[in-house]
Amino acid sequence: MKKIVSDSIQFACGVKAKNRFMLAPMTNSQSYEDGRLSEDELNWLVKRAEGGFGIVMTCASHIHPNGKGFPGQLGIFSDDLIPGHQRLTKEIKRFGALSIIQLHHAGMRSPRALIEGSPVCSSDQKKHDARGLDLKEIQQLKHDFIAAAIRSKASGYDGVEVHGAHGYILTQFLSSEINHRQDQYGGNLENRSRLILEIVDGIRKECGANFIIGVRLSPEKFGMDINEIGWVCTELIHREIDFLDISLWDVKKMPEDPQYQNQSLLSYFTNVEMKKTLLTVAGKIHSSKDVNSLLDLNVDFVSIGRGAILHHDFPKKVMSDPAFISKETPVSEEYLKQEGLGQAFVEYMRRWPDFVLPQSS
Ligand SMILES: Cc1cc2nc3c(=O)[nH]c(=O)nc-3n(C[C@H](O)[C@H](O)[C@H](O)COP(=O)(O)O)c2cc1C
Repeated sequence: MKKIVSDSIQFACGVKAKNRFMLAPMTNSQSYEDGRLSEDELNWLVKRAEGGFGIVMTCASHIHPNGKGFPGQLGIFSDDLIPGHQRLTKEIKRFGALSIIQLHHAGMRSPRALIEGSPVCSSDQKKHDARGLDLKEIQQLKHDFIAAAIRSKASGYDGVEVHGAHGYILTQFLSSEINHRQDQYGGNLENRSRLILEIVDGIRKECGANFIIGVRLSPEKFGMDINEIGWVCTELIHREIDFLDISLWDVKKMPEDPQYQNQSLLSYFTNVEMKKTLLTVAGKIHSSKDVNSLLDLNVDFVSIGRGAILHHDFPKKVMSDPAFISKETPVSEEYLKQEGLGQAFVEYMRRWPDFVLPQSS
């Protein structure tokens, strides 16, 4: 049956989203250094709910102070942070959107200036001056992810996305290039994926059957292998997680690894038997045409990143205009502020090539 972008979708856990648009998780450096939600972060996200997103995902939110990856990062590592999250989820709900928080630990990628002590990883990493966790600490890390999910539920979120992508700690376990352990959390793929699977099982057990659980994975870079990630997907589908979020960065790209270049990167995941799990992808989805062609493949809902920075109402625009194309960049600071970005987010976006016009002197 043809998928329509304005159709509601139902997750395996029973929760429904009003349409097929999700705001992709986007770090915006707008919160307080102690992890509390700021007014700017609230405004940025609530404006996306107002703009028609059926699902609003937060930025990567750290589950432990030692896993902080960015200045001004939103945190979910302490009960003291719950009131801010409660405000956010209540506001998002007012517009009929679901709210999902991305659970994150940067591992060896935590800048030393942001954490106490040294960054941690699956194994020692000289280049990052990071130390490998012992078995007891791995159990604690698992517990920290699960505790953050329990806190998320108490904060009113409809679900969580476990951040297993982009070279952060769970990728550092999945990766055969980074993980050199010789115990049950290292070595073969089954062992390297044990931690992320145990986290998902623990969240389901503690947060119950009606809570959305998604997992984000990178199919390449950081030592990821497409076939290995396909196997991890199958394990997650077997557990009936609600959605898989494959981070492609460009939905039209070919794989970088020469052995996989006979088909598009996306097709490796649209060909997976998804059973009850829904599939979403992100990466340069700029127009109504882009959205509709993904739905014609096996993608169930789309995740919009930079398009949603440029247009808080990207979903409304796509649903009302089949010819809609996102604004070209660079754009002015004033334009981004009108779209609900605070000063810190504008400054962060200056680091992205050709996104913000240089300040006139
Ligand atoms: C400013 C910015 C911040 C991002 N922060 C995160 C993040 O916190 N977690 C994450 O998984 N991906 C993050 N990403 C990746 C996006 O979620 C998305 O996958 C990527 O930007 C590709 O989609 P797009 O082409 O629509 O922007 C970020 C991207 C941008 C542009």
